[in-house]
Amino acid sequence: MNITQLQATAKAMVAKGKGLIAMDESAPTIAKRFKKAGIEDNVENRRAYRQLLLGAPGVNNYLSGAILYDETIRQTTSDGVPFAKYMEKLGIIPGIKVDKGVKDLPGFPGEKVTEGLDGLRERLAEYASMGARFAKWRATLAIGPGIPSSYCIEANAHALARYAALCQEADIVPIIEPEVLIDGSHTIQQCFYATLETLRVLFRELGAHRVFYEGTILKASMVISGLESGKRAGVQEVADATVSCLLNSAPASLAGVVFLSGGQGPEEATAHLNAMNARYPNLPWPLTFSYSRALQEPVMSTWKGSSANVAAAQKQLARRAKFNSLAATGAYKAEMEKEVA
Ligand code: G3H
Repeated sequence: MNITQLQATAKAMVAKGKGLIAMDESAPTIAKRFKKAGIEDNVENRRAYRQLLLGAPGVNNYLSGAILYDETIRQTTSDGVPFAKYMEKLGIIPGIKVDKGVKDLPGFPGEKVTEGLDGLRERLAEYASMGARFAKWRATLAIGPGIPSSYCIEANAHALARYAALCQEADIVPIIEPEVLIDGSHTIQQCFYATLETLRVLFRELGAHRVFYEGTILKASMVISGLESGKRAGVQEVADATVSCLLNSAPASLAGVVFLSGGQGPEEATAHLNAMNARYPNLPWPLTFSYSRALQEPVMSTWKGSSANVAAAQKQLARRAKFNSLAATGAYKAEMEKEVA
């Protein structure tokens, strides 16, 4: 394990005013999203779309890195340049999703555990040889009557910690993503306690697995009301609850915290990140974005699979990336949304 290299990569991933784009949708997920935007799902459209995202003029001013899917890291640009090489030239660090998705946790109805540890050491070595410098593993925790159970939290924390230790052995920075899902009618308080317990157990497991925090990034879900809760908490309440939850669970030596958007709209996700940075400018770690839907929704709906729309779609990405970059320093203003792409 090269501690200096891990620390340098992790630091660069959360450099001031920069964040990540998650473009690691699995084959079934991208198919669903393409269908919604009226785009035919085939290998070439997936490749062209990922090139559109990475090649959007100016986005490398706002993006430190991008999380790729297995299919994408094996693909090339239309000029035949492997995507990881293309990204390095642009100053966008290549990352890779390595989990194999969530599966039902037997004996625990409504709960999931993430698979993908078998053969992970060998897969990480291969991804490193293709240029990946960081990885991502996502666990999901649902909130509902009696859940998340302690067992589900522990099973997922254990897998995340085994994954993180294997990543660091391969000099790859692990992004650990325990997503407390937004689906449901729970209150922000219920989300707070579920997230707090999840993070406390997770960091205990990471410590037990001798994971080096300065070379680790937490990808957190914000502490937020459920989508179906009648009265949803406001922006400041989300910012305060999320920061309090992190301060009560994450070690100060952690390299950084990036957020997923998790079903929030693009503007909502930006406003929440901004409020955290504006209200808490002196936290132990940088707080930035690692969004998929909140960056990509306007891009996909503008592109619609047509080459005639590429430039307009790329402008949509540059616009959202810029707003989130500003939010990463607390300098975003809601009025900016009136700017035309
Ligand atoms: O694993 C989920 C992605 O990395 C983040 O996606 O921003 O759409 O929640 P999202």
